[in-house]
Amino acid sequence: MKVTVVGAGAVGASCAEYIAIKDFASEVVLLDIKEGYAEGKAMDLMQTASLNGFDTKITGITNDYAATAGSDVAVITSGIPRKPGMTREELIGINAGIVKAVSSSIIKYSPNCILIVVSNPMDTMTYLVHKTLGLPKNQIIGMGGALDSARFKYRLAEALEAPISDVDGMVIGGHSDTGMVPLIAHATRNSIKVTEFLSEERLEQVAADTKVGGATLTKLLGTSAWYAPGAAVSSMVQAIACDQKKMFPCSAYLEGEYDLNDICIGVPVLLGKNGIEQIVDITLSDADKAKIQESAAGVKKTNALLEL
Ligand code: LAC
Repeated sequence: MKVTVVGAGAVGASCAEYIAIKDFASEVVLLDIKEGYAEGKAMDLMQTASLNGFDTKITGITNDYAATAGSDVAVITSGIPRKPGMTREELIGINAGIVKAVSSSIIKYSPNCILIVVSNPMDTMTYLVHKTLGLPKNQIIGMGGALDSARFKYRLAEALEAPISDVDGMVIGGHSDTGMVPLIAHATRNSIKVTEFLSEERLEQVAADTKVGGATLTKLLGTSAWYAPGAAVSSMVQAIACDQKKMFPCSAYLEGEYDLNDICIGVPVLLGKNGIEQIVDITLSDADKAKIQESAAGVKKTNALLEL
C-alpha cells in the first residue's frame, strides 16, 4: 500500500505521522512545493520510527509527481489554511487552482488512485475534483465529517462527563461553520440516546460548539488545526487500505441520495478498497432533512464561484 500526501504543512505532516504510527502502509510519499520542506519533514518523521515502532517508509519530495506513481491513495492538503476570523469559503480563489493542478498531477501518475480532498472549502474542492477529472464517483472523497464527528464526540463526552469511548455520534452536511448538521437524535452513550441524559438546551450548546470547532481552534492557534484533521484522514486511509467497509460521514458526490443532486456534501458512506463502497441513505427527522437541504444550498452557493 502506497499513500501520497500532498502538502507537507501541519495537516499533511500530521496525517503522514498518524498513517505511519498505525503501521498499515508500506510507503508514504510526502510532497510539497517548498524546496526541501517535505524531505525535512519526512526525515524527521523517519527518525521517530524506531521510537514509535513503525516500519512505514516515509519519503519527502519537492514537487516531482513521478515519485508518487503507483499510489493507492492520495491525500490533498495543499493550499492555504484559514487565519483567525476567516471562513473556509474565503479560501476558494487561491485553493481552487492549486487543488485542480494537484489532483490532475496525481491521476496522471496513478490513474486508479483513491483521492481524499482535505483542502478548504472542502466540499467545493471535492466537487471541483469530480468535475475536473471526471473519474468514477467512488474514487473521490472529501474529508470533513470524520473530523467534525470527532469534535462532536469530544463535546458530547465533555457535556456528559463521560469517557469518549462511551460516546458515539455523527455530523453530516457541509464542512462549514453554518453547514454542519450534528445528528443529536442519533447520538448515544453506550447505546442509550444522549437525549436521555442531557437537556435540549445543553445539546444545542454541544451542536453549536461542534459547528465552530475549527474556528475555535483557528482563533487559539492563529492557523487551522492539524492533529484531529490528520488523525481523521489517517482513519479514512486505513479503512480504504484495509478494506474495512467502515462507516464515516464523508463528502460524496450525490445523485439523488438525500434528495440532493450534483453536489458533494457530507453523508454517511462505507469506505473500503474502492473508496466509497456505498452511500448510506439513513432516515432523518424532518428537522434534520431541512437542515441538510439548507446546508446544501450553502455549498451550492460556494460551488457557483468555481470556474468550471
Ligand atoms: C478544520 C479544517 C481542517 O476544520 O477544515 O480544522
